[in-house]
Amino acid sequence: MRTVFLETYGCQMNVADSELMAGVLERAGMSLVDRPEDADALILNTCAIREHAEQRVIGRIGDFARYKQRNPAVVIGVAGCMAQHLRKKLLDGRRSLDLVVGPDGYRDLPRLLQRAAGEPVAQVRLDRDETYGDLEPRREPGVRAWVTVQRGCDKFCTYCVVPFTRGRERSLPLADLVRQVRTAADQGFREIVFLGQTVNSYHDGTHDFADLLRATDAVEGVTRIRYTSPHPSDMSVRVIDAMSTCAKVMPHVHLPLQSGSDPILSAMNRTYTTGEFRDVAERIRRAIPGVALTTDIIVGFPGETEQDFEATAALMREIRFESAFLFKYSARPDTRAFTWPETVSEEAKGHRLSQLIELQHQISGEVHDAMVGRDVEVLVEGPSRRGGEEREPQLHGKTPQFKTVVFRDDGTPAGALRRVRIVGATPVTLFGESLAQPTPAPLVTIAG
Ligand code: SAH
Ligand code: SF4
Ligand code: F3S
Repeated sequence: MRTVFLETYGCQMNVADSELMAGVLERAGMSLVDRPEDADALILNTCAIREHAEQRVIGRIGDFARYKQRNPAVVIGVAGCMAQHLRKKLLDGRRSLDLVVGPDGYRDLPRLLQRAAGEPVAQVRLDRDETYGDLEPRREPGVRAWVTVQRGCDKFCTYCVVPFTRGRERSLPLADLVRQVRTAADQGFREIVFLGQTVNSYHDGTHDFADLLRATDAVEGVTRIRYTSPHPSDMSVRVIDAMSTCAKVMPHVHLPLQSGSDPILSAMNRTYTTGEFRDVAERIRRAIPGVALTTDIIVGFPGETEQDFEATAALMREIRFESAFLFKYSARPDTRAFTWPETVSEEAKGHRLSQLIELQHQISGEVHDAMVGRDVEVLVEGPSRRGGEEREPQLHGKTPQFKTVVFRDDGTPAGALRRVRIVGATPVTLFGESLAQPTPAPLVTIAG
């Protein structure tokens, strides 16, 4: 077993877990390859958040199964949240599948792969203590490094499968995280993104999330710090204070609202009311000038009436999030809401979703239009795919508020900051013209 092909689905935590797996595999003498046909083992790192996510993976397992018919020696593995969610059921009746490994089994991945070459293996024990804090991930080259600070979730929102797929909440020790951030900065990464399902409830027994932000702010070589996703109920005064005083912590908070109706929030077990959410949003906006608030919203939760839905739309109009991820409710086995009758038809869910998409599109468009004529600081990430043959080469990067800016390539290297004047906008992208001379290139080259 020498080569592994790894494909990732789901959220950033899965992307970070794939980098963790890559590190574990490489230290065991294996290498990652870009094409399935070059691999001794194929691993899918999967997501279970909505039914659609699982269906995509089932389709992909089918592709791999056909591939294995032609190459019987290849080992096929399913990792991640869907592996944990379906466990041994995934192996039943699928002779093509050799390994099922949940999110707490990655430390042993090389050994599991060797065993799976002989007989089907399932490692789906959740481990209250596993944080992988001591393991160095093999990060994908780029400007941004994902750093998982906390695993699992204890919130048990009634619609959500994550507490079942990732187990109990646990935080990595602050010292391990600062070491990871230093290593990433030395490797040339400029932006650190802290990850956790309720990242602001981070607590390692001694330090809280505010301590972590402050400790990272002091690390040399780091230009920007971000995090996702905080839980509204854990948005403490200390965290907001740290955000407003740490120069490198960017003015963007992704604050999932889920619903703008109090009865629905309560049925979702979200632990805050709309009034409390409003207060948190206001406190953040008061403490951090120019901050961008973005959110997640679910439509069609069991019991959501037309009135509840209208309340969500009204709160979106009032708060004016800069952008939003909008989802149709998907019933997930194991969750509490799974046992409740669905009261909103697929058609009504679709209708509500498109109404909110349109509303958000309008708000994002207005927010972006208001930025035309302003100057922003962009952390350049590299050439833009928008620069086709017919156009001059373009660069792209992010503003402090995490908005994408595209501008003519002026030679600014990836990882450097550039002042850009915004000259045009769509609801998703800002277009700019670079100003003055590029800021000096970073002293360390970008990894890879
Ligand atoms: N831990 C994060 C969210 C993780 S999942 C938080 O609490 O904010 C990302 C988003 O997927 C959630 O915010 C929610 O909007 C959506 N989601 C989760 N479970 C879902 C389900 N069963 N159906 C539809 N959307 C869901
Ligand atoms: Fe799921 Fe709620 Fe935990 Fe987020 S906070 S991962 S939505 S249970
Ligand atoms: Fe992420 Fe999907 Fe798991 S959203 S935590 S990969 S269920």
